[in-house]
Amino acid sequence: MTTYKLLLLPGDGIGPEVMTEVEKIVGWLNRSGLASFETERDHVGGSALDAHGKPLSDETLARADAADAILLGAVGGPKWTGVAYDLRPEAGLLRLRKDLGLFANLRPALCYPALADASALKRDLVEGLDIMIVRELTGGVYFGEPKEITTLPDGSKRAVDTQVYTTAEIERIAHVAFDLARKRSGRVASAEKNNVMKTGVLWKEVVTRVHAEHYSDVALEHVLADNCAMQLVRRPKQFDVLVTDNLFGDVLSDVAAMLTGSLGMLPSASLGAADARGTRKALYEPVHGSAPDIAGKGYANPIAMIGSLAMCLRYSFGLGEAADLLESAITRALAGGARTRDIAAEGENGIDTAQMGDAILHELESVRGA
Ligand code: IPM
Ligand code: MN
Repeated sequence: MTTYKLLLLPGDGIGPEVMTEVEKIVGWLNRSGLASFETERDHVGGSALDAHGKPLSDETLARADAADAILLGAVGGPKWTGVAYDLRPEAGLLRLRKDLGLFANLRPALCYPALADASALKRDLVEGLDIMIVRELTGGVYFGEPKEITTLPDGSKRAVDTQVYTTAEIERIAHVAFDLARKRSGRVASAEKNNVMKTGVLWKEVVTRVHAEHYSDVALEHVLADNCAMQLVRRPKQFDVLVTDNLFGDVLSDVAAMLTGSLGMLPSASLGAADARGTRKALYEPVHGSAPDIAGKGYANPIAMIGSLAMCLRYSFGLGEAADLLESAITRALAGGARTRDIAAEGENGIDTAQMGDAILHELESVRGA
């Protein structure tokens, strides 16, 4: 069996706490013979700034480049609010995404049956929800230049961010969305704002052409991003694959996360282009951030992080059986009543991070031993 190299970047806030639970699961995968992983830990974000004076060192980037996959916890926190813009913790994550070419961010929003009542929406609106948000991750307003704040002659300031997309950037993310739709229900919704943005005009035009040329078997619908946000809370199950740009994807995936009961539930995969051997660079991370308000308290929900490992098994290593096992262990742990505080019923404290990790581990052991 091939031994794969996993780079673990716990980062900041609750990142290290949820990563510890992933390490337990990786240990179990190794013991059970389902997979063989070597893990290495390194710094990113504020913890890297503290350790190396930069939110992502060149050495860590090289290690990330050499790894078979990267698992990242979270970055950022109030401790670093005063640091220079280029040194802020988030810059470390953005550099990883950009320099490794991780342009396709897959954010599945799945509502576990046991959690339908934890959603802010009524049970019948979210029960069985299964949306895949495909967020473009290395372009748009996150990276467009100029990006600056200048001082005007009267002493007031002027801030600029630049939203920019090229045909090629839109084409490749559209392909990812359509290919995924073929393996799912065969429907894609593409969200932009062509009514006010030139990038939206080009986005719609390119997605329409890629669809017509290659994917006439898939159903395509265009939706304005603001309307999309409204539809997500009105009737979320109308969507299957939802493809959108970097900024809209950031916002819409937080909305989708909350439909599932908690931001603590959503995993994500960030993938690069396939090389000649079909291998993609890949980073897996929970959609939730560093949650500084609860960091260090030991009750963060590790499910998004563990679900990110499941995505890693599936997308990077073709270990579908192990991914299924892990995902069903999460489902069964929830069905058995395991609840961290974010998904606990009102007035109940819930279990802590390690207990949730152990509950999932216990479900794995009960089906497969080791
Ligand atoms: C996310 C996060 C990041 C983003 C931050 C931490 C830079 O919110 O992954 O959704 O805005 O992309
Ligand atoms: Mn976000």
